[in-house]
Amino acid sequence: MNENEQDALRGRVREVYGAVARGEAGGCCAPGPAAIAAERLGYAPEELAGLPEGADLGLGCGNPRAIAALQPGETVLDLGSGAGFDAFLAARAVGEGGRVIGVDMTPDMVARARANAGRLAAEVGGQGKVEFRLGEIEALPVADASVDVILSNCVVNLSPDKARVFREAFRVLKPGGRLAISDVVATAELPEALRRDAHLHSCCIGGTALIDELQGLLAAAGFVGIRIAPKDESREFIRDWHADDVIPGRGVEDYVVSATIEAVKPGGRTARPAADDAPPLHAAIVSLVALAANIAANHPKQGLCQVEKLRGLGVPEAHIHAVVDIARHLRDEAGQSLDSRFDEQAAALLAAPPPARSAPDPAKPRVPKGKPLAIPVAEAGACCTPTKSGQSCC
Ligand SMILES: C[S@@+](CC[C@H](N)C(=O)[O-])C[C@H]1O[C@@H](n2cnc3c(N)ncnc32)[C@H](O)[C@@H]1O
Repeated sequence: MNENEQDALRGRVREVYGAVARGEAGGCCAPGPAAIAAERLGYAPEELAGLPEGADLGLGCGNPRAIAALQPGETVLDLGSGAGFDAFLAARAVGEGGRVIGVDMTPDMVARARANAGRLAAEVGGQGKVEFRLGEIEALPVADASVDVILSNCVVNLSPDKARVFREAFRVLKPGGRLAISDVVATAELPEALRRDAHLHSCCIGGTALIDELQGLLAAAGFVGIRIAPKDESREFIRDWHADDVIPGRGVEDYVVSATIEAVKPGGRTARPAADDAPPLHAAIVSLVALAANIAANHPKQGLCQVEKLRGLGVPEAHIHAVVDIARHLRDEAGQSLDSRFDEQAAALLAAPPPARSAPDPAKPRVPKGKPLAIPVAEAGACCTPTKSGQSCC
């Protein structure tokens, strides 16, 4: 899809949600009164109490805060914040020392959220600071590395450029920051007729991506610990969604499901290990992780060397980031002392462009198979570490 087509699609979505914000139309992502829909999505009635009226427009498809484990003092970003429903709940969780930023591209939605925030500030104390910014999630109006947690509820499916959304999310998260998203995802390729239906797109169905595709986009953006958990029971409420009778009877529940999407930006101390049900890593990667963990803890220079080796082998950057992140995690877990140079130099190395791969030098003698490689001391460089028996080079 080219930029103009993407803009046209966003324009259509903006029109639909503008009308919802102005009270001229209902949302098509939940049937019946919003409070009942919210309870069906897993929000407890007591947490809904005290929210400004109209903050919940019944537009969500899950409860991202339930998987976010928000901590007091954290900075939270809500992508496609609507009238502020999840942002206000997040503000309660992060408390006065925390901060919540909602971003939405629909001016009437942002106006409504700001009005709700004003009412809430006047009525209730003890909330974190909440603000709403007008902007697109493909070009976030948010500073680099400034956010601890990104929430989003039923929005990413609406974006025509999900790769860019995830790259932007990665940019604004602090190292170790996390994604906690509820969204509709595809479990089977949607038929053309459903995919090209503009109304179904605005109703969170037509723009859904396959789970594998999302997994790939998140990894390409640099995320680790990616976990996409489809909620099979959601097919029932998706079947009930109505939009001027566009959805019922078309069997959309056979293709899409509500899911939680979690991922972590590598680095920092809050990074989580990969989820149990993540796809298995190649055995070579697993052994490299173990090796890197050991080296990161004991031989920082050699750790960097391993990073270079991975690059030389053509291992994708996302995997290298994952290896370094897991290595750091294991090292910290073991309580081993940290040579801070490893962190600094690893960051510098990962930020630098990969070296061009050169053809082997025919003038250099090849080591015969089976013979140990003797490295003269004169050739020893930054990648060598003194050992009892002399030195060890990678
Ligand atoms: C289905 S509603 C969900 C609203 C809110 N998250 C909730 O649960 O109540 C989708 C919202 O995302 C916004 N939105 C859709 N695409 C967007 C984009 N590309 N950038 C920013 N906001 C977007 C819409 O304006 C709308 O407010």
